[in-house]
Amino acid sequence: MSLRVTRPAYINAMVKRGYEADAKTGIKGNRREMRRHVCQQCHVEYYFATKTNELIFPWHFWTKDAPLKIENIDQYYDVIAKSENPFKADWIHKLTGAPMIKIQHPEAELFSSGIHARAGVGCADCHMGYVREGSYKITNHKIQSPLFQINRTCMSCHPLDEKQIRDRVFHIQKATANALRLAEGAILALIEDISKAKRIILAKYNIAETAPLEEQEKVLAAPLEKARLMHRKASLRWDFIYSENSTGFHSPQEAMRVLAQAIDYARKGQLEVQLALKHLHLSLEPLIGYGAVPLAPKPIPGRKEGMVPPAKLLKIDKELTQ
Ligand code: HEC
Ligand code: HEC
Ligand code: HEC
Repeated sequence: MSLRVTRPAYINAMVKRGYEADAKTGIKGNRREMRRHVCQQCHVEYYFATKTNELIFPWHFWTKDAPLKIENIDQYYDVIAKSENPFKADWIHKLTGAPMIKIQHPEAELFSSGIHARAGVGCADCHMGYVREGSYKITNHKIQSPLFQINRTCMSCHPLDEKQIRDRVFHIQKATANALRLAEGAILALIEDISKAKRIILAKYNIAETAPLEEQEKVLAAPLEKARLMHRKASLRWDFIYSENSTGFHSPQEAMRVLAQAIDYARKGQLEVQLALKHLHLSLEPLIGYGAVPLAPKPIPGRKEGMVPPAKLLKIDKELTQ
């Protein structure tokens, strides 16, 4: 009944980072460390190698016991993934043509730079508070948000009342939600600028927008390369915080640092578009505000809930960013 890890991708990635494999527990660790390892097998960013379909965690540049920095992931996808396991992108963006990375759910990675990780607090301390079953004290296996049980999770370490604790979490989450929206607006502006630039460049060379992609790329690839790279980097960062499920709580300052970079890359991408067009003696009015949020797709036929967010959630979202 003791804690152990079994997922090969996790063990491989950890051994590469310098941790020791263990025949019985998967990775060597004391009980405190194991209470984090077990969750980190799944709550991570990963991808599948193109040819072998091998499951890989992009942790090559994440050194042992150090907090992960977003640059470690970026570097991995820009350098290692291309050479070691031929993998360029999860998908090509339809409007800009940028090679994109889809981030999964990087809780382990973001958490590593937060104050709780540095203080040795494990995932289970907050997500599996202790409960009494008769004379036994056991961890609650209904794993969920700690906010459902603040008295059994946060309050076992922090001598504050429930409201104070809840307010602190919401304060962090609200700031993160705000920065997420800023990043989304900036990335949408970049997408619009690149899409427009594509049209202008194609027109200059008399290539129809319906021409085969290969033909279009002959005139688009070189001038748009830098702007596309900025799109990839900005979106990867926005997605890293968006897809991480604590809305910034696991590491508030790193979350804000990553989002600041997302905004910076998006706006730099717009400047790269301007430079590229200038070299071609073309011009475009850059979008200074936010790009338009694309309409949600129609609900999938036959399903009650579609992909259109319900009014209730849209209202919460609006309040969060006010
Ligand atoms: C084998 C993979 C795996 C492991 C190991 C794992 N999780 Fe999860 N976890 C998931 C998946 C998948 C979901 C999403 C489930 C869903 O959407 O129904 C999830 C959901 C969650 C949720 C959200 C639950 C909710 O309220 O809906 C929390 C919190 C969570 N996990 C924490 C943890 C913690 C803490 C650990 C370690 C003790 C852990 N997980 C270990 C795969 C895993
Ligand atoms: C110091 C306490 C704390 C620790 C330690 C912690 N978390 Fe969390 N976690 C939170 C809080 C607070 C939230 C936000 C909950 C909410 O918004 O309802 C959260 C959210 C989550 C969610 C989304 C839950 C949901 O309901 O959608 C997941 C998944 C998760 N954490 C996984 C992890 C994993 C994996 C670890 C360890 C690597 C970890 N957490 C460590 C406090 C913690
Ligand atoms: C196992 C003990 C433990 C648990 C459980 C725990 N914390 Fe903490 N928390 C700490 C420690 C230790 C620190 C760091 C204190 C320091 O170094 O000054 C900390 C720091 C903090 C900080 C200050 C962060 C900063 O940057 O200054 C906040 C806010 C916080 N915790 C909120 C929470 C919330 C919310 C929960 C529940 C979801 C929680 N903690 C659960 C031990 C815990």
